[in-house]
Amino acid sequence: MEDKIINEIINRKSSLNFSNEKITKDEINILIEATKWAPSSRNMQPWKVIFVSNESISYEPLFNSLSESNKEWASSCTLFAIFCVEDDKRLNKKFLDVGYAGQNLMLQSERLKIQTHPMGGWSEEKVKEAIKIPTQNHVVFILAMGKEGNLENLNEDLKERHNKLRTRNPIEENFSFDFWKF
Ligand SMILES: Cc1cc2nc3c(=O)[nH]c(=O)nc-3n(C[C@H](O)[C@H](O)[C@H](O)COP(=O)(O)O)c2cc1C
Repeated sequence: MEDKIINEIINRKSSLNFSNEKITKDEINILIEATKWAPSSRNMQPWKVIFVSNESISYEPLFNSLSESNKEWASSCTLFAIFCVEDDKRLNKKFLDVGYAGQNLMLQSERLKIQTHPMGGWSEEKVKEAIKIPTQNHVVFILAMGKEGNLENLNEDLKERHNKLRTRNPIEENFSFDFWKF
């Protein structure tokens, strides 16, 4: 059945294997184009996405806002996309909209052979300070990105984590028909 699923959905994975080759401006423009076509409640497109490369003036403070375990692998990423939304009473819908936009960005990256890894492990206060996000906004998630690296350059721990078998729940744990049957 897997051969009937869109390739990018199957092949995307949270990568730990990045090279220092830059993601180009043209590639970023394609990623932006793909991201903007995500659906959103009332077509509000509430996402604000800030790209920070590892050559940016914001890079160091942004990197320092990551959790220690994320720093272990994210140091080899060349680009981060920070997804934010403005706080208001529609916040939970906005978070959902950002999820769709983030998935568009990840799948389009996969098409361009750009590795991605979504992150929820960071200090919101520090991220906001690092890239000057106004207080009324929330950071929803950060996407780490980079071109594919050479696995042999990873230490044993990261290599093992990168190659770990990806698993999903048995279907009946998450899906049912007609009624709630969990
Ligand atoms: C909202 C969100 C937050 C995540 N936060 C982290 C994180 O802080 N660090 C990390 O290494 N992976 C993080 N992940 C990646 C998940 O661990 C990963 O998606 C999951 O294990 C499934 O693996 P896959 O993406 O390779 O299919 C996050 C994923 C999502 C969607």
